Amino acid sequence: MTARQLQAIARDHGTPVVVIDHDEIRRNFQEFRRHLPKVQPYYAVKANPAPEIVETLYREGSSFDVASLPEFLLVYRNIRRLSAKERQDFVWDKIVYANPIKPQKTLEALNKYKPLVTYDNLDELKKIQKYAPKAGVALRLRVPNTGSMVELSSKFGCDPGEALELILKAFKMELTVEGISFHVGSQCINDDNFVQALNIAAAVMDEARAHGHEIKILDIGGGFPAPYNAQVPTIDALARKLNAEIDRLFAPDLEILAEPGRYLVASAATLVASVIGRTHRDGKTGYYIDDSVYHTFSGMIFDHCQYPIKCFRNGKTEVCSVFGQTCDGLDTISQSEELPRLEIGDLVYAENIGAYSNASSTYFNGFPPAKVVHVNR
Ligand SMILES: Cc1ncc(COP(=O)(O)O)c(C=O)c1O
Repeated sequence: MTARQLQAIARDHGTPVVVIDHDEIRRNFQEFRRHLPKVQPYYAVKANPAPEIVETLYREGSSFDVASLPEFLLVYRNIRRLSAKERQDFVWDKIVYANPIKPQKTLEALNKYKPLVTYDNLDELKKIQKYAPKAGVALRLRVPNTGSMVELSSKFGCDPGEALELILKAFKMELTVEGISFHVGSQCINDDNFVQALNIAAAVMDEARAHGHEIKILDIGGGFPAPYNAQVPTIDALARKLNAEIDRLFAPDLEILAEPGRYLVASAATLVASVIGRTHRDGKTGYYIDDSVYHTFSGMIFDHCQYPIKCFRNGKTEVCSVFGQTCDGLDTISQSEELPRLEIGDLVYAENIGAYSNASSTYFNGFPPAKVVHVNR
């Protein structure tokens, strides 16, 4: 998006406004496919659940990873609407329910769709057997998350040593283990996590095969990094390693899927906000803007992410602070931003803010979430 386009949108729609560029989403999706041609992307809807994004990605050929019943229904209803002639069994091709822990009511509601769901412990398996016996299951493995921005293995995934028993138990309970899944942690810039995870998954599949169970699906999760700064490697090197390991470890007919979230949408959104106040404290200028860490900047808290603040003015810069609009001291966006002197009413913006941002906006202090504007749909 150009500066002129962002300013025009802010003028037309007011601020704060999240501008989502669907050309960028399509570019990211096509890059992913080009680099990992054997892997079907299931977009992790949690990163940004805008129905417009679901539609754009569906039209590109994406499938979807969901983490709750509302997310499942959001995707199901949208793709049903867009694809009247789909085969009856399209749910598996298009949706994986990849939250290993599911409430009873969710399982009861999901059962009629015969979904593919993940599990990582025996209690969950018993719940699935009781409340969603028509589901196919995928076992989530605990794999190294070293150096990932958001680590997930302390919460999810069975130890590789427990995997065979959990697979055999599932078959005994007349559930079919269709897949093995893992997640290397979000914003993973350590390729070795993926390499180790693939090797662990291959060893578990070998064990299952030795007991007469051929696993058909490998779900390599999310973790593909978004370009937040110049240090983040591009997907090329990671894809080369992944493709080589996939060829080395698995049969060519294994169905492989991934659950990219931030890789597809982070770079597609820019937030434009207004300066609504100014102060001078601790020897520097501070600007208050009409968004906050309770709103579009929520990724600072929940996602451990930083979003540099930029502006449309030129001139000599000085170190300053940027605060959110709420009355909470925690609502500090930056203590050291380099900006020229700004006036109240000036626009500022933050790029790469499409993932885990407005998705977790609240109404704290009575301020509603930023308006979302979709461009190039
Ligand atoms: C099960 C699962 N799949 C996919 C994702 C998406 O991860 P990412 O945005 O790193 O690609 C997450 C993120 O938490 C997740 O928990």
